[in-house]
Amino acid sequence: MAAAIFGLEGKKAIVVGGGRGMGESSANFLAEAGCDVAVLDVDEGRAQHGADEVTKRGRKGIPIVADMLDAASARDAIKRAEEALGGLDVLVTIVGQAIFKPLFDLTDEEWDFDQNRNLRYAYVTATTAAKSMIDRGVDGRIVCIASMDGIMGSPFHAAYGAAKAGLISLVKSMADEWGRQGIRVNTVVPGSIATPRLPDNDSMREILDKSPLPIGRSGTTDEIGKAVLFLASDMSSYTTGSAVLVDGGWNASNIFDPRIVAVKKTL
Ligand SMILES: NC(=O)c1ccc[n+]([C@@H]2O[C@H](COP(=O)([O-])OP(=O)(O)OC[C@H]3O[C@@H](n4cnc5c(N)ncnc54)[C@H](O)[C@@H]3O)[C@@H](O)[C@H]2O)c1
Repeated sequence: MAAAIFGLEGKKAIVVGGGRGMGESSANFLAEAGCDVAVLDVDEGRAQHGADEVTKRGRKGIPIVADMLDAASARDAIKRAEEALGGLDVLVTIVGQAIFKPLFDLTDEEWDFDQNRNLRYAYVTATTAAKSMIDRGVDGRIVCIASMDGIMGSPFHAAYGAAKAGLISLVKSMADEWGRQGIRVNTVVPGSIATPRLPDNDSMREILDKSPLPIGRSGTTDEIGKAVLFLASDMSSYTTGSAVLVDGGWNASNIFDPRIVAVKKTL
């Protein structure tokens, strides 16, 4: 990789949820572009694996184990990671997951749980990181992973969709509040991505693989990692508050209209 064009040589990055999948890909791309990376994960083995992958790429990889659902632990983990790195230029927040249930069956606790693991922890980690970046006079970059479910409706996982929509809005507010102090904040909005968490026979992925999406397949974790690298790097120097869709064209396509599906089959 011609790393110089990214302007990330010697920069320090934290990837929250960096131990596998999109997080691992993001950490690896950042390392290849010249970043030392702290891989923060609730799972010790994954944190170590992610850090080892960074080290294999010739950069310092630091495993940090912490649970983002606990705000005090999350703040403390960002500070520990920054100290171990010797600075902080880039924060990426990857953690997120959905409870699938009809709204009538969802408990208040489940609603709160999904707001926390998709939205609150991003607010907690981003404010902790941005405060430190501003205090140090760093040109900081923050990239949060949202979801197409935060742009479309998300029936049967509505708490997740609401949290991801909130995340897209939160990122715009952070971009505006901190822009003049040198911090850029953006979201990557994945469509359907083949990740280690999803089983091989995941029904949504099967539907999308057979569907007339403009790019007729699911995405890969590396395709998210590349978007993260773009938004974390100088390549996106005039981009902030944006939601960058990496969705195979889902947003552009009416994949469920049978008339359109029928026409596309003839092409
Ligand atoms: N897979 C998709 O198709 C898809 C589509 C749209 C958006 N997304 C979003 O992409 C992101 C990644 O999804 P994924 O399925 O690859 O994630 P994942 O389940 O693989 O989790 C990523 C990492 O986060 C860690 N983690 C989980 N809970 C944590 C916690 N409480 N504290 C610290 N670390 C924790 C996991 O151990 C894992 O290593 C999520 O935000 C998800 O909402 C995924």
